[in-house]
Amino acid sequence: MLPFQYNNNDELSSDGVSLSEIASRYGTPCYLYSSSHIKMRVTELQIALARHWKGEHKPFIAYAMKANSNRSILQLMQSLGCGVDIVSGGELARARAAGIPASAIIFSGVGKTDDELVLALNEQIGQINIESSAELKRLDILTTATKQSIKIALRFTPDIISGAHEKTSTGEEDNKFGLTDDEIYKLFDYYKDHPYLSLCALSMHIGSGVPSLDPFRDAFLRMANMVQTLRQAGHTITDIDLGGGLWVPYDGEPEPPVDEYAQMIAEIFEPLSLHVTLEPGRLLIAESSCLLTKVIYTKDRDNKQFVIVDAGMNDLIRPTLYDAYHPILPVKRKANSVSKKRDVVGPVCETGDYFAFDRELPALDRDDLVAIMVTGAYGTVMSSHYNTRPLIQEIMIENNSTRLIRRQQKLDDLWRDEL
Ligand code: LLP
Repeated sequence: MLPFQYNNNDELSSDGVSLSEIASRYGTPCYLYSSSHIKMRVTELQIALARHWKGEHKPFIAYAMKANSNRSILQLMQSLGCGVDIVSGGELARARAAGIPASAIIFSGVGKTDDELVLALNEQIGQINIESSAELKRLDILTTATKQSIKIALRFTPDIISGAHEKTSTGEEDNKFGLTDDEIYKLFDYYKDHPYLSLCALSMHIGSGVPSLDPFRDAFLRMANMVQTLRQAGHTITDIDLGGGLWVPYDGEPEPPVDEYAQMIAEIFEPLSLHVTLEPGRLLIAESSCLLTKVIYTKDRDNKQFVIVDAGMNDLIRPTLYDAYHPILPVKRKANSVSKKRDVVGPVCETGDYFAFDRELPALDRDDLVAIMVTGAYGTVMSSHYNTRPLIQEIMIENNSTRLIRRQQKLDDLWRDEL
């Protein structure tokens, strides 16, 4: 069930709180999150994994915190038993500041600097996913100098067309990510008896918003083959990290087949007695959130109307960056309202500052509230200060009430560090 529904007064609400109440209490624009929906998504995946994985060591969820890294959300994920997948030293520090244990942190990413690797070693995080031989060499030098040990997964590029948006597809050899099978076999041989680098895992991530299970199946089977080949060559492989990438419905697509996904993972990897980790981001958080915004002006042209709202592309860049579709709902459903094509746009000085083009929407007037839906993943985390606009508030809806989880930035914070 979606977290934002119309109540008996025809007003969008969540967990008994109407969005108009939230707007009058906190102001707009703001990101809203439904705590119960996040819990529902995480437990749905955990239950499916536990159901199909018969033995011990049920697959572990390392939430991809790049999707949304507010510390309240990280704490919620941790309380549900998740670790995190990080991609920068900043995310490492943030995860630790949220209280995530270092052992539950996996470090992915194609360009980790020495400083970031040193931080990861000092914190003694659970695993580093390596994406190039040059990166592994740096870690060889750093661990040998400091005598610090670390568990390593090599990220495999299965060269599979994922079907995700071209900017979020990562599993083809043309993409910058990961290592080919030849590179992986050579690295395992070369670092076999390294005193500090424990090469015992493989990882992958073929893309984000992958629209079917088929590419996952192909990639997983290739990973399973690779595990067997490595074992036959005398290597010990204990862990496999399957990345994230499952789609969520933005525009009426089917529900992600979480149960079938879990079954496929168990069928392919349980016979190999591996510890499996997943790194879902979007699946767990996307639908839990909406961006609540208010109409500032409307402007009529012959063929359409512009609806200018108080959120902008700096708050949610997905429509213009990926042509992403986000449903837009009026917070108050008006009787006898005439639907027509409207462009919902922000105040930023770019034609690319839009949330919808030619979208069939009911009449909207000044001060009407609208909710831009499915914004929990890659919404607030990709926002910017463009046009000197402060980062907006974030509000958690839980137990029939609301809690501010990020204040709106103060304007002078935006230039505080300028010299
Ligand atoms: N693991 C790795 C190594 C990743 O690079 C990603 C996402 C994930 C896991 C999580 O993928 P998810 O389950 O969320 O699909 N900004 C884009 C999405 C970029 C995803 C980057 N990597 C968007 O707004 O669609």
